[in-house]
Amino acid sequence: MSRFSIEDILPPWSKRIRPYPPGKPIEEVERELGRTAIKLASNENPLGPSPKAQEAIRKYAGNIHFYPDGGGYYLRKKLAEIHGLDMDQTILGAGSTDLIELVAKTFLTASDEAITSESAFYMYRLAVEDMGAALVLTPMRDLTFDLRAIVHAVTQRTKIVYLGNPNNPTGTMFTAAELDRFLDALPPRVLVVLDEAYFEYVQRPDYSHSVDYVRAGRNILVLRTFSKVHGLAGIRLGYGMGHRELIESLNRIRSPFNASSVAQMAGMAALDDHEHVARSVASNTREMKFVTEELTLLGIRYTPSVGNFLLIDTGRDCEEDFVRLLHEGVIVRPMKIYGFPTSQRVTIGTHEGNELFLEALRRVMTSPVRAS
Ligand SMILES: Cc1ncc(COP(=O)(O)O)c(C=O)c1O
Repeated sequence: MSRFSIEDILPPWSKRIRPYPPGKPIEEVERELGRTAIKLASNENPLGPSPKAQEAIRKYAGNIHFYPDGGGYYLRKKLAEIHGLDMDQTILGAGSTDLIELVAKTFLTASDEAITSESAFYMYRLAVEDMGAALVLTPMRDLTFDLRAIVHAVTQRTKIVYLGNPNNPTGTMFTAAELDRFLDALPPRVLVVLDEAYFEYVQRPDYSHSVDYVRAGRNILVLRTFSKVHGLAGIRLGYGMGHRELIESLNRIRSPFNASSVAQMAGMAALDDHEHVARSVASNTREMKFVTEELTLLGIRYTPSVGNFLLIDTGRDCEEDFVRLLHEGVIVRPMKIYGFPTSQRVTIGTHEGNELFLEALRRVMTSPVRAS
């Protein structure tokens, strides 16, 4: 057999991609440490999955030999009713990440451009790079998307703008009025992907009225997920809302069974679980206040967040602090990859989890830094 290199058949842009590093499974971390650990690394719901969704999954278990409904009929119908849209203005995905990628796959070629911000959610960048398209990163202002800078960066080649509101990992948001102005200034042919994964957590009255844009037929895809407040990250379910032609175009490229039957059943039930959503939001609001007050007492800087996580800056090498916290049994996310070499992203946990984290952080911050 003649020798071959897989590199020979890879598209050139694929060789340049830096994949998002996955964290280790918590079980493996615990095995290595010989102790229990708490995971505050992926902005999951610390109260667990919606109980109604769990019940729906148990009930449906005997039917999983059937393929899912590829059109997601009942879930899309329910989503459309909730948001005052028609069904054909909605689309399901294997998490919102699937839809972030699907948009890129549907519209981008190697001669196109897409814009997002520096320190925006990493998946936007990967989705664009996967297509070999040019990624344009505009600077942030006060760790928030600078929407004016994005308008200025638009060229004839720009097809998509990705916005996270709130953004991960900064936890910052822009207001509905700011987005109104942005959309008015943007050429209408540019598609805006507005990722609202943490929508339910945001308490500010000047936050989004994004679904109004969809109703008005603007060139926008609004993304939401079941992974955060509903506590269903493992099941992989998200959805998009946009104008009919947009959804139709996405459906041409979408993998037909991208939302599993179990996910669809769980999603339907989770939408009815108002109690779980309310409890999760209330807990997050209360605990966000607790954690930020304690961080202030510790003298640790953080970026005020409207989501369920915080970007904290210890002022020390983030990879080293990450390992120290790991040895204390707390898993967080070092933020060098996002351009914050002295920061960690920490999910707001239960009260007990947050106390463990703060205790661990206190010990880490008072331990000497290794001389390099
Ligand atoms: C801003 C943002 N968008 C999307 C996602 C992805 O969520 P999903 O689990 O729906 O793919 C995340 C997950 O962390 C996120 O932070």
